[in-house]
Amino acid sequence: MALISPWRADFPGILALEAEGQTYLDSAATAQKPQVLLDALLGYYATGAANVHRAQHLPGERATRAFEASRQDAAQWLNAASAEQIIFTRGTTESLNLLAYGLESQLPGDGQIVISAAEHHANLLPWQQLARRRNLELVVLPLDANGSVDLEQAAARIGPRTRLLAVTQLSNVLGRWQPLPQLLAMARAQGALSVVDGAQGAVHQRPDVQALGCDFYVCSAHKLYGPDGVGLLYGRGAALARLQHWQFGGEMVQDADYQQASFRPAPLGFEAGTPAVSAVIAFGAVLRWLGALDTNAVAAHESALHSALLSGLQARSGMRLLGAPQTALASFCIDGVHNADLAHLLSEQGIAVRAGHHCAMPLMKQLGLGGAIRVSLGLYSDGDDLQRFFAALDNALELLR
Ligand SMILES: Cc1ncc(COP(=O)(O)O)c(C=O)c1O
Repeated sequence: MALISPWRADFPGILALEAEGQTYLDSAATAQKPQVLLDALLGYYATGAANVHRAQHLPGERATRAFEASRQDAAQWLNAASAEQIIFTRGTTESLNLLAYGLESQLPGDGQIVISAAEHHANLLPWQQLARRRNLELVVLPLDANGSVDLEQAAARIGPRTRLLAVTQLSNVLGRWQPLPQLLAMARAQGALSVVDGAQGAVHQRPDVQALGCDFYVCSAHKLYGPDGVGLLYGRGAALARLQHWQFGGEMVQDADYQQASFRPAPLGFEAGTPAVSAVIAFGAVLRWLGALDTNAVAAHESALHSALLSGLQARSGMRLLGAPQTALASFCIDGVHNADLAHLLSEQGIAVRAGHHCAMPLMKQLGLGGAIRVSLGLYSDGDDLQRFFAALDNALELLR
C-alpha cells in the first residue's frame, strides 16, 4: 500500500521498532516520540537541571522560563485565552481526579453527574466515586448503533438536576467523535459545568477550547507524541476559580502557619510539589513541532490510512467491527476467535496491537464482549504497517480456524 508518512523519519522509536521487526499499531495507548522531544530532554539535562519557581540562580531561572514557555505553548495549542488557564498534571487521569475533588463542593446533593456510555475508566470512576461520596445520581447517556451519544436520549436525560457533564471527545474503543457542540449546549442551558476528555481527540483534531465552549478540557502528553508523566488541564477562567485545592505542599501555598494556610490560585495552586520539569519542557518542544506541521496533510494521511484499515478489516470473514469508527483506530472481534489468542499470534509475528477491555469495561459488557482487538494509528503509521498487519492477521486466522 503506497500510503507513505512524510513524518515517519522524525520518529526514531518507530524506526528502531521497525528495524527490530516490530510493527507498532498501538498509538492510542501511547504514541512514539519525535526527535525534537529527545533533543529537548537532552538539552535540558545536559545544560544543568534545576527546580522551577523557587530558585534565584541562573539554572533555576532558566528552567522556570522554559517551563513557563511550555505553558504558553500549551495555551496557544489549545487556543486558551491565557496561559494561567493551563494546569500541568501527570496526565488525563490525574486531571480528571483533580476535577472530581476540586468540584466536589460545587455539586450539591440531589443533583446529577452525566457521562456517556463510551467513557474510559478515567472519565467514569472519579465521577462514580464522587457521586457515591455526595449522594449524587450518575446518569449514563446511551449510544446509537454507530457509537455516538444518541442526542434525543441525551436531551431527555440532561435536565435541571444536571450539575456536571463529563464526556469524551473521541472514544478510545469506538473511534467515534462525540457530538460535543450539541451536548455542551444542553449542559450550558441547564447551568451545568462541562468537562471534555480529550485524551484521544486532542491527537487527531487540534482542540480549540474557546470555540468548544467547555468549562474544562483535559488530555495527556504521552498520547500526543509527548513525554509520559505530563497532562494538561484547561479551565475557563470562571470555572477554574470554582476549583478547590486538592493536593497540598510546596509551591502551591500563599502563606502558612502551623494551624492554617492560604493557597495560590490556578495554575500554581494546583501544582503542588516539584513538577515533571524536563517532561513539561520537552512537551513544549513537541507542541511547537506539532503546531508547525501542515494539519491538512496530516489529516489527509490519517484519513487515507484509516479508510485502508477499515476496508481491510471489513474484507475479512467473521469480522465484527465495534461501532462505526471515524478516525485513527478500529476495534474488532472475529467470530469464534478469542481476542487474547489472536493478539498473542499477532505479537508472535511482530505486530503490536491492543487486546482486552480497553479500560472501558461497562461499554464492553454492554456490547456483550469480554474484549476486543484494537488497531490504532499515529501520524508516522504507513501503508506498509497495514500490509504487515493484514498478512499477520490472515496467518493467525488460518491457524485459529
Ligand atoms: C479516552 C481516554 N480517556 C482517558 C485516558 C487516560 O489517559 P492516561 O492514562 O494518559 O491518564 C485514556 C487512555 O487511554 C483514554 O483513551
